[in-house]
Amino acid sequence: MIPGYSIRRVEKQDYKGVCEALNALTTVGEVSKAQFDATVDHWNHSLVLPNLLQYHPYVILKDNQVAATGMLLIERKLIHGCGLVGHIEDIAVSPRHQGKQLGRALIDHLTSLGLAHCYKVILDCDESNVKFYEKCGYSKAGVEMQHR
Ligand code: ACO
Repeated sequence: MIPGYSIRRVEKQDYKGVCEALNALTTVGEVSKAQFDATVDHWNHSLVLPNLLQYHPYVILKDNQVAATGMLLIERKLIHGCGLVGHIEDIAVSPRHQGKQLGRALIDHLTSLGLAHCYKVILDCDESNVKFYEKCGYSKAGVEMQHR
């Protein structure tokens, strides 16, 4: 990890910091402390295999404040011999901490965690972030589509 920063799983005390960091990504909307705590409980108890958590939400901290956040979600499939696929989701570095290699450190951490269990790790992103993810070792594959 970059000197002065540390990384760990999201905890309930990270309520404000995680919501603020996610504002760099999108609209978080109204999330009460009770809803946040219930979501953290869900993340901490959902298993994808008997000894493997499904959700791996992380924060990077500086001086006990959240500087960045991101998630690895593990999906259990039938194909590839009931293989596991890792999904990187909701990556956000607070504006004042951007450009300090924190995004790359977070992606490196989540990718290593994912590849320890999964046959691949994938993500969706805007075109404007492609170069960032290429620097993190990812390459373009397929086309994202959506139906809202
Ligand atoms: N375009 C081109 N290069 C970039 C970009 C970009 N948008 N962002 C970072 N880089 C480069 C940096 O210049 C650096 O290059 P270098 O190592 O040659 O100097 C390298 O990528 C690593 O950059 P970091 O400093 O680690 O990037 P940062 O900490 O600022 O994080 C991030 C990048 C996550 C995109 C951040 O700017 C951010 O949070 N943006 C707003 C939210 C967002 O778009 N999140 C990603 C959503 S996609 C998802 O969640 C799966």
